[in-house]
Amino acid sequence: MDLKQYITIVEDWPKPGIKFKDITTLMDNGDAYRYATDQIVAYAREKDIDLVVGPEARGFIIGCPVAYSLGVGFAPVRKEGKLPRETVKVNYGLEYGKDVLTIHKDAIKPGQRVLITDDLLATGGTIDATIKLVEQLGGVVAGIAFLIELTYLDGRDKLDGYDILTLMQY
Ligand code: PRP
Repeated sequence: MDLKQYITIVEDWPKPGIKFKDITTLMDNGDAYRYATDQIVAYAREKDIDLVVGPEARGFIIGCPVAYSLGVGFAPVRKEGKLPRETVKVNYGLEYGKDVLTIHKDAIKPGQRVLITDDLLATGGTIDATIKLVEQLGGVVAGIAFLIELTYLDGRDKLDGYDILTLMQY
């Protein structure tokens, strides 16, 4: 299946000059959403995954159906102030902006093999921060899966040494 036909390119959003890749038109289509999810599940099955971890908000949309299909748990990574119990945190830089990401301290058991998921690999800042959170808790990043990679932003270089799957490249 050619997944790109389900992505809508929105010019000048959220800022002038940015061509936003809208995944909601892929999610709207049951066959396309399931196909994309199944591709990531097949990748994850080779990696003996114990837990899926994804950053808000679109990392949840990708990661939760994958975790359900694998029969493993899902741990959310959220912006500061959103998780109710003790967290660990890390600063990160976005393509446009800066923020702090957090995860519950007890979300990952040392040695657990983690699949990280998100919709988009842009600069790699979000997932670099997510890796740091997983590793701070003793998790092993066994794989990282995205729907989309913006190859011209070289986010992959920031994630050097990790196993990465991207289903579409721009
Ligand atoms: C977007 C996207 C990725 C990240 C990619 O999330 O969903 O998580 O940016 O950019 P990067 O590789 O340069 O870090 P955003 O922070 O806009 O959050 P949202 O999913 O909650 O809208």
